[in-house]
Amino acid sequence: MAVYSLPELPYDYSELEPVINPQIIELHHDKHHAAYVKGANDTLEQLAEARDKEQWGSINGLEKNLAFHLSGHILHSIYWHNMTGDGGGEPLAADGVGDLADAIAESFGSFAGFKAQLTKAAATTQGSGWGVLAYEPLSGRLIVEQVYDHQGNVGQGATPILVFDAWEHAFYLQYKNQKVDFIDAMWAVVNWQDVAKRYEAAKSRANVLLLAP
Ligand SMILES: [Fe+2]
Repeated sequence: MAVYSLPELPYDYSELEPVINPQIIELHHDKHHAAYVKGANDTLEQLAEARDKEQWGSINGLEKNLAFHLSGHILHSIYWHNMTGDGGGEPLAADGVGDLADAIAESFGSFAGFKAQLTKAAATTQGSGWGVLAYEPLSGRLIVEQVYDHQGNVGQGATPILVFDAWEHAFYLQYKNQKVDFIDAMWAVVNWQDVAKRYEAAKSRANVLLLAP
């Protein structure tokens, strides 16, 4: 039985126009995200087979595939909910997301500084990758990570709460080679309510990740 399944999109394919056109959303969710779900399930099956047969010749490739596909599944599952047609602007206390706004200001100095760092991290990925805002439990701070593929160049234990997909499949049909324009446009669809919810959830499970309570 499959362990992972493709989550439904929380909106129609056209929800994020004009920032992202419906054709991209459909392909991205129904084909690319679906492939990561299948890849994660297939890899778990192959690992089970390796255990049964006690054949470990492919262990390195299988563990890498598990990290790649599972991370792809997780990041895309966050990505869809991080966006809304009613999004954009910046998190404000008046909108009930004051804790997140304060954490961004404390961790990055200002919203403008944070926005510049995440924009740069996402727009300058070499090859395929992501720009990620994550909650780091040891310091209790927010950090920006520049993720290679889906799983590389990340610190252990940090929880992603806002993710910008910088893979070409996320924008090429509409923005061609103008990755910077796509990342700039993404800010207009950020769902700050969703990011704030993830921030609170990440904080509340921080102790699970720490060695001492
Ligand atoms: Fe993607």
